[in-house]
Amino acid sequence: MTQTHSDALVFLGATGDLAYKKVFPALQYLIRHGHLEVPIVGVARSGWTVEQLRARARDSLEHHGGVDESAFAELANRLRYVDGDYHDPETFVQLRQALGDAQRPLYYLAIPPSLFGTVVHHLAESGGAHDARVVVEKPFGRDLASAQELNRILHQVFEESRIFRIDHYVGKEPVLNILSFRFANRFLEPIWNRDCVAEIQITMAEQFDVQGRGAFYEEAGAIRDVIQNHMLQVMSLLTMEPPGANAPDGIRDEKVKVLRAVRPLEPADVVRGQYHGYRREKGVAADSRVETFAAVRLQIDSWRWAGVPILIRAGKALAKTATEVLVRFETPPQQSFAHHSLDCSQNYIRIRFNPEEIIAIGAVVRKEGDEEDLQPVELMAHRQAADEVPPYARLLHAAMAGDPSLFSREDTIEAQWRIVEPVLGDVTPLYFYEPGTWGPPETDQLLPDCLAWHNP
Ligand code: BG6
Repeated sequence: MTQTHSDALVFLGATGDLAYKKVFPALQYLIRHGHLEVPIVGVARSGWTVEQLRARARDSLEHHGGVDESAFAELANRLRYVDGDYHDPETFVQLRQALGDAQRPLYYLAIPPSLFGTVVHHLAESGGAHDARVVVEKPFGRDLASAQELNRILHQVFEESRIFRIDHYVGKEPVLNILSFRFANRFLEPIWNRDCVAEIQITMAEQFDVQGRGAFYEEAGAIRDVIQNHMLQVMSLLTMEPPGANAPDGIRDEKVKVLRAVRPLEPADVVRGQYHGYRREKGVAADSRVETFAAVRLQIDSWRWAGVPILIRAGKALAKTATEVLVRFETPPQQSFAHHSLDCSQNYIRIRFNPEEIIAIGAVVRKEGDEEDLQPVELMAHRQAADEVPPYARLLHAAMAGDPSLFSREDTIEAQWRIVEPVLGDVTPLYFYEPGTWGPPETDQLLPDCLAWHNP
């Protein structure tokens, strides 16, 4: 299907944190590579001028990736700004004027979900929604019911093919590489199942704390912030079936299939943590019970994965910043080397997303000079510096081209909410941890016998 390209990019929430950290660097990248030759309109209710927005863009780039003077000049030139309240229809009349001749804008809603309904309604009323696309940020809703309600609101104005639910993790090079590594190789598939895989671990560790986002975290918590979306997306790419070659929406079909096979979490599958000091953050209640760390143990009820524990950890103020997957294989069926000192299987695939990209294979060889012993080695299959393409650049470019493959469908988002729904909020114990550690020690409760957490 040939898609027409969007002919303007509008981002609502232009003066906000997300625009500052992610959107301006993505826009500069797209301009530098000749992928963005349309008007760019920022919308916010900050009482700013376009000059202030340009200054903010420069400041953003100085702190996030650096300013490319020629691309920045073009960005500044393309940038327009509409200031106004999202509840005021006049804001959208002005937006329509700022769009000039553009007929097929892409609206990126980098604003709180509570405003989606109002904004979508005014876009439709002002005549701005016809032939338009809309990109909506995560978390998409707060739970299953609110996600369904959001979908209902969006569908009043936009049909599903024009809605792009973004999860920037899916736009990361190493995350995209999971599917290439799994399905462009022959050797992996015969062992990528419950017969050979003992466990899958995913750790998303961040050394920094909530960094001034206390008020947001009070509303979200780690399960809503990253487990329900980024981590479940990564898990689904690791565990989905190969998509059919001619299936038009094959990858998304397979993703939703595996997500639907995941058993909804029970309290015993979850350990929540909060770092000491969180309650002193701005915007955080002095007696907050919100988690800044969560570990979960998932089970997939499918022939491929039945019985294989899938362990996920994510948190703030941890020992380091690193995201890594470990797929550990079973020990060999017979112990041929009786005296060796290795206590658990050293056969694994390790996929590191950041700070650098790595795919490595764990194996065992003879320990040099020692008659009896063995030693683990790692075969480095792939290693490269962090992704150069900002995930938001990749995703906004895809959305403008009308390519939905990297975006979440309605059914996927709902399947993700179904998994975490039973453990949302303060329904499981909250443990405390020291900043700079790997979270509360209680996290070990989730491990099957003899296994340990793999710290990236
Ligand atoms: C965001 C979360 O979606 O992802 C943040 O809201 C988190 O809490 C961030 O820090 C991590 O993404 P990245 O790409 O910066 O590692």
